[in-house]
Amino acid sequence: MWVKIVTFLLLFLFTSEEACAEYVIKSVQLIIEPGNSVERGTNVSLRCQADVSHSLGSHPNYIYNFYKDFKLLNTDQTTDRLYIPDARMAHSGTYKCEVVTKEQKMESSVIDLTVKGLQTPVLTVKKRKLTEGDNVTAVCTAKGEISSLTFFFSNGLQVLFTEKTESYQVAPQLVLTKEALNIFCFYCITLYSSIKCSDNSNVITLDIQELEITPNITVNPSPNVVEGDLIIFKCIVNTTYQINSDFKILLIYGQTMLSLTMAQKDYYMSAKASDSGEYECISRLGGVSKSSAMNITVKELFSMPALSIHPAEVFEGEPFTISCEINNISSERIQKDEIRYSIFQDQTSVINGSKYNGIAGKASNGKYMCVAEAKGIIKKTEMDRFEAKVLVSKPELSVDGPVIVNQSFLIHCHSTNGSLPIIYSLKRDNITLNRTKVSNPHEKACFLALITTPSDINRYVCEAENNGQVSSKMSERLHVTVIVPVGKPLLTVIPVPGNIEEGSDVTLICNIQKGSPPINFTFYEGSGTEIHNTIVQSNSASYDLTSVKRHHSGNYYCEANNRANTLIKSDTITVEVSLATWKKALIAAFCMMLVVLLVLFIVKRYKAKRGKREMAAKLSVKPASPKSDDSLTLSLTHDTHYSDHTVVVNNTESVWNERPLDVADQDSLGSTNEGDVEYTEVVHPQPIDPMRIPLKKGTDTVYSELQTTQGNIEHVNHQGLLEYAELNHDLPEPVD
Ligand SMILES: *[C@@H]1O[C@H](CO)[C@@H](O)[C@H](O)[C@H]1NC(C)=O
Ligand SMILES: *[C@@H]1O[C@H](CO)[C@@H](O)[C@H](O)[C@H]1NC(C)=O
Ligand SMILES: *[C@@H]1O[C@H](CO)[C@@H](O)[C@H](O)[C@H]1NC(C)=O
Ligand SMILES: *[C@@H]1O[C@H](CO)[C@@H](O)[C@H](O)[C@H]1NC(C)=O
Repeated sequence: MWVKIVTFLLLFLFTSEEACAEYVIKSVQLIIEPGNSVERGTNVSLRCQADVSHSLGSHPNYIYNFYKDFKLLNTDQTTDRLYIPDARMAHSGTYKCEVVTKEQKMESSVIDLTVKGLQTPVLTVKKRKLTEGDNVTAVCTAKGEISSLTFFFSNGLQVLFTEKTESYQVAPQLVLTKEALNIFCFYCITLYSSIKCSDNSNVITLDIQELEITPNITVNPSPNVVEGDLIIFKCIVNTTYQINSDFKILLIYGQTMLSLTMAQKDYYMSAKASDSGEYECISRLGGVSKSSAMNITVKELFSMPALSIHPAEVFEGEPFTISCEINNISSERIQKDEIRYSIFQDQTSVINGSKYNGIAGKASNGKYMCVAEAKGIIKKTEMDRFEAKVLVSKPELSVDGPVIVNQSFLIHCHSTNGSLPIIYSLKRDNITLNRTKVSNPHEKACFLALITTPSDINRYVCEAENNGQVSSKMSERLHVTVIVPVGKPLLTVIPVPGNIEEGSDVTLICNIQKGSPPINFTFYEGSGTEIHNTIVQSNSASYDLTSVKRHHSGNYYCEANNRANTLIKSDTITVEVSLATWKKALIAAFCMMLVVLLVLFIVKRYKAKRGKREMAAKLSVKPASPKSDDSLTLSLTHDTHYSDHTVVVNNTESVWNERPLDVADQDSLGSTNEGDVEYTEVVHPQPIDPMRIPLKKGTDTVYSELQTTQGNIEHVNHQGLLEYAELNHDLPEPVD
């Protein structure tokens, strides 16, 4: 139990001490001894010194890291020292160190260490007396140098060999030429930021015997030959070396190796014009090559033939000549007539000779070539294309889109056959309007034209030519449909628009003076409601309105159009549909009846008055001065009749209450007013409505007319009149 507590306490103390370890790395310094710049072979010591403040009793664990040229070195991290015994230049560099604890880390500043002096290398060779091409082992040694070294072997300024190695010695096999007489070596070391080289080694002078293998080039019969001549090349070399199995002789022309032999050998060749140039013999033994060269000139036996076609441009059916010519021959070798010619058309011989006469045509078109041959030398010309030109065919005229009078349009002129360029001329009758030259296959001859009458279209023709005026071709006259735009349409209404009765049939006719069919006629009503549309082949169209009603009255117009698309509108016509005849007749009959009745009445009244006694009626009104809404009693008094009317006086209308009296009452009334006759007449000041029956004014006429001060005069009068007439009719016949 106690042991456990003590252990715990110790553990606690230890950990708390660790945790509370108070130390600070104040600075780190790298010290190089004996100094920053030393001679090679010096024992150099680098110390990493940390200045640390720490509380009593704490012992932080330090780790020391050393860096060279900013790369961490593989050192014992527990020690603050780095020893470099027997320093070499390779140890030169930029150093720094670092102190690391659990919580802290600090670096020193960087310090450069320079180790001066490289050992001078020593050169040795196995043999000093050599033959050109021999190998020699040269040994270059720089004992005690470390790190990666690059060795150089030189002959004066010329570097013979280099090798990079981690060793202090190299021993290459050098192949020395005659020039390599004084050789030496040196080495270089690559430091972080520079390259340092040692002094040159001792110079060794070699004695090199020249290898006598230089060839001697000869050519037979001569370096100047003529095409077809046989040439023999010889590469002559000192025979003593030819037994060596390494020995080789090469004959080279430009980039081409003509021969490669182990021993001296002749080279035969039939000279061609293209064989002129430098020929070189090369002999090679081991690493040694010797050469000699010679220029050869090969003259042409005859020059390249030239093909020509006359004339340059030929139309079908015309003659032409193809000839083959050679300008130069080597007259010392051949005569002109020794050359044989043949002319080929598309690989087929057409003639054995230098001239070919033909007639241009489809069959003569092709690629021509000439072949000349003499003494085994064959020369061919390039292929030359020949194509007979084709005369223009009769051109054809066409137009773009519809032709409309007074609107411009395009006329195309085209010949199906004919070599370009073709000149097209547009003519109207015999006058040339315009010309155009068509030079490429995609071009078209287009002319702008305008006609004012349809027949003008046939006046256009086109002429095409590609070989002068003489062979020009004329087209047919232009034949295309011409569209005449519509003229102003005229709208006619049948019957005459002022005389149309309800129920009758009306026909609208739209008519144009000119315009190419098909014509599109459209009829409109009112302010533009389409009522009918038709496309016809004639110059007019009609539309029937069957059994018209009063509502068909109104404005009508029509429009005409065709493919010219110049829409034209007619004038507007107003149609009035009147009442039907039977309705009129009915009204008339009714009116007539009224007149008859009135006349009858008047005649009766007249007769009665002219009879025994005059009868008068008195109309009295009670009250005398009626106000609005008052009841008004009108009393008509006659010797035998009495009638009473009550009227409610109103500002707008009058209402009559009629109360005819019984015949039985008539006697008592009649007795009351007997012999007392009054005559009353109220005359209307305004002109009388024609619908009213005219009343004759006179002393023998009893006529009463009542008019309210305001209101519906006609209504009152009319009604009053009718009622009055009835009333009067009911009156008994006056006694004669
Ligand atoms: C370098 O140290 C070695 C032993 O470590 C010693 O033999 C040698 O003499 C020293 N060289 C110099 C130049 O002090
Ligand atoms: C051959 O001719 C070329 C060009 O004319 C010349 O550069 C070259 O030196 C000549 N070679 C010899 C071997 O004469
Ligand atoms: C165009 O030439 C062809 C043959 O090449 C011939 O068949 C045709 O009839 C010619 N056309 C005209 C319009 O001459
Ligand atoms: C002839 O055609 C050319 C283009 O095709 C045009 O510019 C020229 O105005 C035309 N001349 C006449 C007289 O129509």
